[in-house]
Amino acid sequence: MSDVTTKSQTNTSQNSYTNILTATEDNIAIVTLNRPKVLNALNHELMTELTDALAGFDQDSAIGAIVITGGDRAFAAGADIKEMSDETAINIMLQNKFATWDKIRAVKKPIIAAVSGFALGGGCELMMNCDIIIASETAQFGQPEINLGVIPGAGGTQRLTRIVGKYKAMELILTGRPVTAAEALAMGLVNRVLPVELYLEEAKTLAKQIAGKSQVAVQLAKEAVLKNYDMSLTEGLEFERKNFYMLFASDDQKEGMKAFLEKRPAKFTGK
Ligand code: CAA
Repeated sequence: MSDVTTKSQTNTSQNSYTNILTATEDNIAIVTLNRPKVLNALNHELMTELTDALAGFDQDSAIGAIVITGGDRAFAAGADIKEMSDETAINIMLQNKFATWDKIRAVKKPIIAAVSGFALGGGCELMMNCDIIIASETAQFGQPEINLGVIPGAGGTQRLTRIVGKYKAMELILTGRPVTAAEALAMGLVNRVLPVELYLEEAKTLAKQIAGKSQVAVQLAKEAVLKNYDMSLTEGLEFERKNFYMLFASDDQKEGMKAFLEKRPAKFTGK
């Protein structure tokens, strides 16, 4: 691991995004939400850029995992209230503005959220779209939409309930109360909590560790875990078994098992 860290070089992409920054480092991609003046409020343009960047990295065979982060003060303080405040029900429905969010769900590669500061409303929902969450000690999480006279609209009522259970989700969604990083860790909403100067590095290290595995196995594993949201246990178990059997058609399964038996590190090709 230290070998990877010492040789790492971040390459910042030249692209036309105005609300996010993108970079690659070894075999991972880093997408940084970049509207700091409004605490990374998620307007439509930002979400379009974010999903475009994620789709691009998902197609890039040199990339094995993606980190999404914001700033130390805010991961994202929610959907852009200024953009939404004058919406009508008919317009917001016809334009189906949150449909963009479905594209995050379609990303096959693992996404790790590195979260510091505010992760509220849509910020918390964006984070819950990710596969692993590394938080800083200053992070705070919540679904404060009730205080605006609305409810979470980008998956919060569904995902938060599945993650923390009915009663805690109900309390957070009905009161809008934010929780600290320590509380979030205790309720299983984040994987781990680190000092603010370390959380992003930890997320990158984890992403690189995953990117070094067999990519075909990683993607089928992610797909199978996410099926848990959509299916009954019986259907989910069948799906997992199908993905497991299918991996025996891959070179990586042959190489991985052979390498174990030969007591050497595996050389995965993602095929
Ligand atoms: N949308 C638009 N602008 C926002 C924003 C948001 N969600 N959150 C913060 N901002 C802006 C503020 O308007 C302010 O802009 P100005 O300097 O131009 O006035 C700037 O960011 C800094 O914010 P504050 O001055 O309010 O900073 P603070 O430190 O005093 O408070 C905060 C921070 C507690 C996060 C507070 O900004 C806040 O409560 N924000 C809104 C949180 C929220 O309600 N999120 C849910 C949005 S709805 C949603 O997300 C729906 C969904 O399900 C997708």
